[in-house]
Amino acid sequence: MHDLLIRNATLPDGRSGLDVLVLDGRIVAVEPNIQASPQLPVHDAQGWLLSPPFVDAHFHMDATLSYGLPRVNASGTLLEGIGLWGELKPLLTPEALVERALAYCDWAVAKGLLAIRTHVDVCDDRLMAVQALLQVREQVRPYIDLQLVAFPQDGVLRAPNALANLERALDLGVDVVGGIPHFERTMADGAESVRVLCEIAADRGLRVDMHCDESDDPMSRHIETLAFHAHRLGLQGRVTGSHLTSMHSMDNYYVSKLLPLIAEAGVHAVANPLINITLQGRHDTYPKRRGMTRVPELMAAGVNVGFGHDCVMDPWYSLGSGDMLEVAAMGLHVAQMTSQGGMQACFDAVTVNSARILGLEGYGLAPGCRGDFVLLQARTPVEALRLRAHRLLVVRGGAVLAESAPVRSLLQLPGRPPEVDWTLAR
Ligand code: FE2
Repeated sequence: MHDLLIRNATLPDGRSGLDVLVLDGRIVAVEPNIQASPQLPVHDAQGWLLSPPFVDAHFHMDATLSYGLPRVNASGTLLEGIGLWGELKPLLTPEALVERALAYCDWAVAKGLLAIRTHVDVCDDRLMAVQALLQVREQVRPYIDLQLVAFPQDGVLRAPNALANLERALDLGVDVVGGIPHFERTMADGAESVRVLCEIAADRGLRVDMHCDESDDPMSRHIETLAFHAHRLGLQGRVTGSHLTSMHSMDNYYVSKLLPLIAEAGVHAVANPLINITLQGRHDTYPKRRGMTRVPELMAAGVNVGFGHDCVMDPWYSLGSGDMLEVAAMGLHVAQMTSQGGMQACFDAVTVNSARILGLEGYGLAPGCRGDFVLLQARTPVEALRLRAHRLLVVRGGAVLAESAPVRSLLQLPGRPPEVDWTLAR
């Protein structure tokens, strides 16, 4: 663990001119003009925005960077992606899984993304991806918090051995219980899968994160069942409904009853804006539904909402770079959250809100928190979203993991400054 002093930072809550002192990996002071030993490494933030690191609440690291293997998704649909993943699974090797995951973690660090919850498919009897990502979790532990979800991609009741494999994965040390109720054979089976999986989590003292209602069908209402069992089993604050895209299409009256139930049960919600906007509404002609869940309404009801990247260069999505500012920017566009408060809330969705979903210890910029942060070339969270701001510095436990310089012009243009000023006049 390292010591570091950051001079003259602006924080996401608007406070500016602050120094941040990290000793032995932990933040010990956040105040102006900290006096420190001359031996201490110092970085001048020059007033730029210092944020806690980005957190991705929903990802698939076993599939990432596999784009084109063994072929591309021609239709671009969710169902062809699931079929394509089924074609790829028998061709996977442990070495390739580990190498792609580590390569993605390199990208993540460069983007200031230091905590990722990744689902890992447990429907393969060999549990090859589980073993690979358990290894990756340990390898990256010094610089990324990687949380694994046992994800029965083909349905925990529908696929042979899926339930037993899921329990084996948990025995091996996978952190969170996953599920996919809308992919079971019937609505009744979907509801039963939610009950079974929540009880497994309660028995083992684990968190739950289900792919829930990733559908345009307004009658896909497994989130109601998830909230019911979270409440019944006392799992408040430990259960997450991911995607929830059917809510986009639900009857408004039904949603007016549903939102307070989700809030009462302390269930978190995760939207995946880049993926929801590309995969949903595929059966529509025009108008085409956006499909993303009701983010501002969930937030207004008191539900904690995080955003996930979900996919990067895999069977479902051919783009992406681990940039959570891109995710948040898409989220605010799709949800039309363009007020100042709405944009700030979208920045929170890829930082503090997602940290709550993962249950990260010591997350934040207060004394006592871990010395983890990212320095952005922006003055405010809204400006960071507008610019997809440069990551000037990425720090973990007081150690600098990545660094980049501001963009400079090599031309000396008459009357123009050497450095591009992306900000408003100040
Ligand atoms: Fe997903």
